[in-house]
Amino acid sequence: MKILGTGSALPKKVVTNDDLSTFLDTSDAWILPRTGIRSRHVISDEQIEDLGTEAALKALEMSGLKPSDIDYFLCSNVLTEFVTPGLSCIIADKIGLKCPCVDVNCACPGFIFALDIAEAKYKAGQVKNVLIVCCEEPTRMCDWTDRSTCVLFGDGAGAVVLGEGDNVKGVKLNAKPSPGQLWQKRKLHPTPYITKEEVDYPLQMKGREVFRFAVNASTTEVEALLKSLGMSKEQVTYYMIHQANLRIIDAIKEYLGEPERKFPTNIADHGNSSSASCTILLDECNRKGMFKDGDVLVFSAFGAGLLSAAAVLEW
Ligand code: UT7
Repeated sequence: MKILGTGSALPKKVVTNDDLSTFLDTSDAWILPRTGIRSRHVISDEQIEDLGTEAALKALEMSGLKPSDIDYFLCSNVLTEFVTPGLSCIIADKIGLKCPCVDVNCACPGFIFALDIAEAKYKAGQVKNVLIVCCEEPTRMCDWTDRSTCVLFGDGAGAVVLGEGDNVKGVKLNAKPSPGQLWQKRKLHPTPYITKEEVDYPLQMKGREVFRFAVNASTTEVEALLKSLGMSKEQVTYYMIHQANLRIIDAIKEYLGEPERKFPTNIADHGNSSSASCTILLDECNRKGMFKDGDVLVFSAFGAGLLSAAAVLEW
């Protein structure tokens, strides 16, 4: 497949590190050097499905395709107010899509997992044009009295329209099942028969372990994928790394031995927006005119699961 259009949408409320320090025992002096985050967009009165719809419409407009041209829609999302139907159906209704709608819940690497499905169906001759929307509101998963998690996240949506082409050169997915490293649980409605105890837990994360996993998974997968494709790092134009922590991106850069200019980032103004992160970064870089035909983009993302994934795309 080939990327024909990108789009993104953000909540209007911007929260700076100084804003957080008015109600949390934290500071810009702690957050910025440890994460690279200065501010983040946070949902206030918006609905996540409206941000997903806005991102999708922008991507469709850029692609030149109409909603009726899309024959498969994948929505990557971890949390939404809707339990059912899936967020893909909610957004499809707003856009006027008539094709199958599929939800993907693969945490932060969700975009690459969705891309893998799209490419497999394309290669099987089952689809021609695919819309992927990644929309996330991780700020709604956190305990906002827990400074170790809530300062890290931001909300938003990114979208990609894919059409005919052989520009997806390779995808590598990985799982190291360890749900205890990064998780959240919610309480379900009671029934007359429930005898077990159920509790609501906000997002829990073993930050240092996840940090190590992220650096190790990303570097290993990127090198293995490039090698399997017979490609060298010199051929890579940009590494589009999941924007979780600038120190993670810096460590990946060091391990790969690649120059700073190949690693665009937007974490300073966005924080970690889960699976939306890579697609928002992609759209921002695209709209700045950073990509030209033949450029090689390497995507790499990691998160709850623990899941991780890498992909190589030619622009
Ligand atoms: O999307 C993928 C999933 N997530 C990630 O990739 C995140 C991966 N992990 C990380 O990015 C880092 O581990 C964090 C940024 C989350 C934490 O950085 P750290 O250097 O590993 O800090 P720490 O958790 O070991 O905490 C060090 C100290 C603690 O204080 P004590 O116990 O040493 O007194 C924390 O209580 O920093 C304290 N601390 C804070 N202080 C001020 C933790 N969060 C904050 C905060 N403000 N926001």
